[in-house]
Amino acid sequence: MIKEEEKKIYKAKIVKREQVSESSFFVEIECDKPVEVKAGQFISIYCEGLTLRRPFSVFSNNNGRIGILIKERGKGTKFIKSLKENEAVDIIGPLGNHFNIENKKSLLVGAGIGVAPISYLKTKLDEKNIENLFLAGFLNKEEIPQNIKSDFICTDDGSFGEKGSVLNYIGVIINEYRPEVIYACGPYIVLKLIAELGERYGIETQVAMEKVMACGIGVCRGCVIDIKKDGKVINATVCKDGPVFKGSEVVWQ
Ligand SMILES: Cc1cc2nc3c(=O)[nH]c(=O)nc-3n(C[C@H](O)[C@H](O)[C@H](O)COP(=O)(O)OP(=O)(O)OC[C@H]3O[C@@H](n4cnc5c(N)ncnc54)[C@H](O)[C@@H]3O)c2cc1C
Ligand code: FES
Repeated sequence: MIKEEEKKIYKAKIVKREQVSESSFFVEIECDKPVEVKAGQFISIYCEGLTLRRPFSVFSNNNGRIGILIKERGKGTKFIKSLKENEAVDIIGPLGNHFNIENKKSLLVGAGIGVAPISYLKTKLDEKNIENLFLAGFLNKEEIPQNIKSDFICTDDGSFGEKGSVLNYIGVIINEYRPEVIYACGPYIVLKLIAELGERYGIETQVAMEKVMACGIGVCRGCVIDIKKDGKVINATVCKDGPVFKGSEVVWQ
């Protein structure tokens, strides 16, 4: 286990840091060698003074320059924000599984900071010329990161784009756009509803789940969720078996 994870440790440094919305910032990290990252995977960052590393989805990747989009919450994200350009940073990754990209008409849904892995997925779909529509939702105008490229934006308070949450628009968009697959990341309630809509309309859904993590590599089992496999309910770790699951296999609470 250790040996495999060791391969994922890079000497890395911060090369760019910019505020992209009122509460979120973008950080670009340069690794000492090219890193291949699949959409949906995450990196785990050591934050000085904290025992547990903090996980962040990959937002962009340009030849070993990994971009992450971070919403400031507590000590860990404040620490990352305090890092200066050229300062070393200790990362492990890429970790976890990834979205299973299919050559199908795709609806992408990102709510809040869930837009991070969905933006990277959009880049990958565009590279493969796969038709897609990206729906993004935020609380308000101030929360919209300047560096996201979505096709449709809604805000809960209507201060930018359409008024309401993504939940108000998914049904309409499904009916008009008729996607064959839906990829989503965001709060639990959004993912649950998307999985339910997928079942109702017979559309495959893939959801990137979030859980507070400890080890991040499938050992402590602190991040398990229940999933259905072969007619049985079993435990799956979000960090190693996930974070991406089929919406239809998650046992939603
Ligand atoms: C697979 C995965 C990918 C993620 N990708 C991103 C990303 O791209 N960008 C981003 O900004 N964040 C992402 N997160 C969430 C991020 O890891 C947490 O926001 C971060 O660990 C908080 O650290 P902190 O020390 O600043 O806050 P803490 O002091 O640890 O917590 C502050 C507050 O945030 C809450 N919190 C902590 N972790 C999470 C979590 N995982 N989910 C929801 N609430 C949490 C705590 O309950 C507490 O209320 C991801 C999480 C996972 C599991
Ligand atoms: S965080 Fe330890 S198993 Fe997932």
